[in-house]
Amino acid sequence: MAPLRLHLKMAAAGLALTATVSTGFAANETETEAEAPQLSEEQIAAGRDMFRTWSCGSCHVLADAKAMGPIGPSLDNNPNLTYEFVVNRIANGQGAMPPYGGQLKDEQIAQLSAYIMQVSKK
Ligand code: HEC
Repeated sequence: MAPLRLHLKMAAAGLALTATVSTGFAANETETEAEAPQLSEEQIAAGRDMFRTWSCGSCHVLADAKAMGPIGPSLDNNPNLTYEFVVNRIANGQGAMPPYGGQLKDEQIAQLSAYIMQVSKK
């Protein structure tokens, strides 16, 4: 499994780099690094599609996507969720949560994470 681990590390490094780059952009809009970008209605719809396509809802509750999965923590009313935390979980997984870093591009993970941050019940 050594090559896979290496690949995941590289994917994580890529994400860190992306975060740094987008901070440069965000600085102009007085956003901080850890905040999710605001999504348009179209981007929200695309995030919802991705959430369904990747079967996140088979394990997670998220009312916006009509997801009722009983295996992982609910993504509604979840105090853990920060943008960076969500990006990291999707990219790297944890326990029974599979890593998606090898299958989704950094931008897709960023968009999916922003979608979750924007629609999840607080
Ligand atoms: C096979 C079931 C399964 C699938 C599929 C799955 N997850 Fe998870 N997810 C989990 C489990 C279990 C955890 C808890 C991991 C832990 O902390 O041990 C988790 C944790 C998370 C967390 C952190 C929540 C918290 O409170 O710790 C987020 C965010 C998340 N998943 C998003 C997603 C997204 C987005 C997808 C689809 C791309 C997805 N998950 C697909 C099982 C799954």
